[in-house]
Amino acid sequence: MFSKVASCALAGIEGVRVWVETDLDGGLPNFSLVGLPAPSVKEARERVRAALRNSGFDFPVMRITVNLAPADLRKEGSAFDLAIAAGILASSGQIPVDSLKGKVLVGELSLDGEVKPVPGTMAMAASLKEQEKDGIVLIVPRGNLAEASLVGGIVVQGVATIQELVSFLKGEIDLPHGNTNAEKLLAELNKNDHPDFSEVKGQYAAKRALEISAAGGHNILLSGPPGTGKTMLARRIPSILPSLTLQECLEITKIYSVAGLLKEDTPLIAQRPFRSPHHTATAAGMLGGGRIPQPGEVTLAHMGVLFLDEFPEYSRDVLEGLRQPLEDGCVTITRAEMTLRFPSRFMLVASRNPCPCGYYGHPRKECQCTEQQIRRYRLKSSGPLMDRIDIHVEVPAMEYSELQDDQHAESSAAIRKRVEKARQLQRQRFRHLNITCNADMTNRHLQEICPLNKDARMILGRAFDSLSLSMRAHDRIIKVARTIADLEQETFIQAHHIAEAIQYRSFDRHY
Ligand SMILES: Nc1ncnc2c1ncn2[C@@H]1O[C@H](COP(=O)(O)OP(=O)(O)O)[C@@H](O)[C@H]1O
Ligand SMILES: [Mg+2]
Ligand SMILES: [Zn+2]
Repeated sequence: MFSKVASCALAGIEGVRVWVETDLDGGLPNFSLVGLPAPSVKEARERVRAALRNSGFDFPVMRITVNLAPADLRKEGSAFDLAIAAGILASSGQIPVDSLKGKVLVGELSLDGEVKPVPGTMAMAASLKEQEKDGIVLIVPRGNLAEASLVGGIVVQGVATIQELVSFLKGEIDLPHGNTNAEKLLAELNKNDHPDFSEVKGQYAAKRALEISAAGGHNILLSGPPGTGKTMLARRIPSILPSLTLQECLEITKIYSVAGLLKEDTPLIAQRPFRSPHHTATAAGMLGGGRIPQPGEVTLAHMGVLFLDEFPEYSRDVLEGLRQPLEDGCVTITRAEMTLRFPSRFMLVASRNPCPCGYYGHPRKECQCTEQQIRRYRLKSSGPLMDRIDIHVEVPAMEYSELQDDQHAESSAAIRKRVEKARQLQRQRFRHLNITCNADMTNRHLQEICPLNKDARMILGRAFDSLSLSMRAHDRIIKVARTIADLEQETFIQAHHIAEAIQYRSFDRHY
């Protein structure tokens, strides 16, 4: 007998409906799975066979053919187990074929018939809600019920065992419905418990630069000797970025759902991510990929901060690979059968020491490096990322007295207020364009929306000649000046905005 039931595959962070077609006939007993299944899916045969037998159902001794359609989509992972099991039960008359209509089944089976959580159910629910107009029911593992019902607007029910599924399909029991209230969850979780800027003493120049970065979405480089607070400052950036809307939270949550990183009880990501991958990270770990394509660090940092601590230590491959996501706001993963896309709009924060030993230019400690070592180190760190960084700021060693005296450093909340106001202006400015903040402006935008007054133009011209700036550096100065003007709620870019922005290009002078 023939049966057909829907399941769902993942392509990047989108869910794609897959039909599981099952046919039984009287040929030699055999169980074949066709329709471009990856090896991870082929293992479903063993799990489904054991799960059905151990749950007291018949595993038909017949020729079983299961086809996963569409055939041109490569299927990965174990999430089709549940649909395959249901298809076999229907085709062998153990449940009514009609009971599968209008249902989408997703879940992994353990050998004893338990339904185990799978990654990506929230992303699947979001896509199915968009694609399916005719009221479907999404059935997910009980452990995924909370996350899958975050999006709302689609009926989601959770199942714990294959026996439970059968009783449900026979109409004997109902399954628990998901009823996560995303808005309520956001209100509960959105407490902003990032560490606070008030804990960082001194370092006013660096804090000012970080405020500008956050206000305009500019990538930033912090340089300075060890122990001056670079890491401490970077960790506090999410605390001054604008708070997330529910829509933005859901977009980030989709990514964490696909990565299998959501908590069962609080499945919403309500805060901007802060990711600080170690410098030994591989290109796949950083950019995404792998046998079952997983989002990388650049995607997990979407709408938040990607922090590369001591970035000259990262491999050349990784640094080179960051160019594309920085440029496009997404990563493209090319595989034999298809091209996947993961979003990756993040703020890049990089730190580095002034030299390999860290103490070049330190007021109290001596640098041990040779001139050549220093030159090589600088050259390495001047590579692929530098032309994506708008702001460079020094984080110098401080005097003991400065640390002691600073009793009332400003709180993150106070800084964030100014950042939000500057972002408000940008939202207004870019409302008809496909960009969100000053850092995203292209050359054309600069000419149209960033006119300089006469003094500003003169200062920029002088710096251009005396620092022999590149055209790229020139444009970046204007973007940063635009953000500084936004922080002051000024319509026109003035001389002092340009002058401050030029200060943040000190690396152009060094090389
Ligand atoms: N400006 C500062 N205010 C308060 N504590 C600081 C400051 N700078 C450094 N520290 C202390 O020194 C430690 C090391 O700082 P860290 O941020 O790791 O330095 P870096 O990353 O520059 O090497 C911090 O955990 C903090 O306790
Ligand atoms: Mg550090
Ligand atoms: Zn040194």
